[in-house]
Amino acid sequence: MHSGILLGAIATVATFPSTIAVACTREGLLAAAQSYIAAQTSGKTDGLVLSSNFTYQQNNKAIDISKGLLATAYKMDLNRTSADEIECASYTMWISTTGSKPYVVGTQIRHKDNLTSQIAMIDTVAATTGDLFFDAKKTLGYIKAEDWTTISNSSARPSRDVLKKAGDAYLDMWTDAKAADTIPWGTDCERVEGSSYTRPCGASLPHGGSSKKNGMRRYVIDESIGSVDVLCQFDSLGPWPDSHEIRIVDGKVKYVHTITVMKS
Ligand SMILES: *[C@@H]1O[C@H](CO)[C@@H](O)[C@H](O)[C@H]1NC(C)=O
Ligand SMILES: *[C@@H]1O[C@H](CO)[C@@H](O)[C@H](O)[C@H]1NC(C)=O
Ligand SMILES: *[C@@H]1O[C@H](CO)[C@@H](O)[C@H](O)[C@H]1NC(C)=O
Ligand SMILES: *[C@@H]1O[C@H](CO)[C@@H](O)[C@H](O)[C@H]1NC(C)=O
Repeated sequence: MHSGILLGAIATVATFPSTIAVACTREGLLAAAQSYIAAQTSGKTDGLVLSSNFTYQQNNKAIDISKGLLATAYKMDLNRTSADEIECASYTMWISTTGSKPYVVGTQIRHKDNLTSQIAMIDTVAATTGDLFFDAKKTLGYIKAEDWTTISNSSARPSRDVLKKAGDAYLDMWTDAKAADTIPWGTDCERVEGSSYTRPCGASLPHGGSSKKNGMRRYVIDESIGSVDVLCQFDSLGPWPDSHEIRIVDGKVKYVHTITVMKS
């Protein structure tokens, strides 16, 4: 009698998992990102818990995970992760200057139904020798010196909306002559595009000129760090796989990083 009721209750739960409000936790997101870093530094994917409908995407193309970057071990000189609890996704950037091929990589990890215990998608933009302004050692030197610590005063954090708008306006600069003026440029800010350095970051900006909007935008927004990363296809200049990351501090853009792969 009792066990019958119990089994019924379990069956109900199992059939309608989406009716349970499970929060996507920062801890869960960071743990999954950590498992990705461990896989990448070992070149072994067996430690990754992948969902049944897992997708691996590299440079905007879905491929078999065993054919991608994760099949090779890379020693990392730097790694940094931001987390988006609303989208249940994370963004990890890492740099490897040693080994047979240097890499600067931006990876978004996505989870379905707030299940951080399983990875639904690994979405990587990976730049190496020959890609736009590529020089991993130079990039490492600039980025290592930056401050990406959590903004401790929570009322001073930029909102999700502000971050999304900044990410979009940045990518719209090539097609919309007015987009650059909507971005809150800081005077003390730097832009690292590949290894090309511009300070202040609001100097020499595009004001339209292309008729093709940058497409395939995927976002990871982290208010606690004040960052947005957008993976996209940089259609305004060519069908190039791209990552644009922006950090806003005290209401102004502080850092911009770009990773652009010169092939489609
Ligand atoms: C996922 O978590 C977010 C944030 O806690 C919550 O708003 C949303 O309802 C959750 N979604 C599901 C499908 O559980
Ligand atoms: C499986 O993943 C693909 C690609 O991410 C997606 O388009 C599709 O809707 C997913 N299917 C299910 C059943 O979740
Ligand atoms: C990733 O970065 C953290 C923080 O800087 C560091 O402690 C850790 O050792 C790094 N992991 C790898 C695999 O390099
Ligand atoms: C926190 O940020 C808010 C909004 O910018 C500001 O008004 C307040 O003075 C800050 N508090 C501290 C302790 O710095």
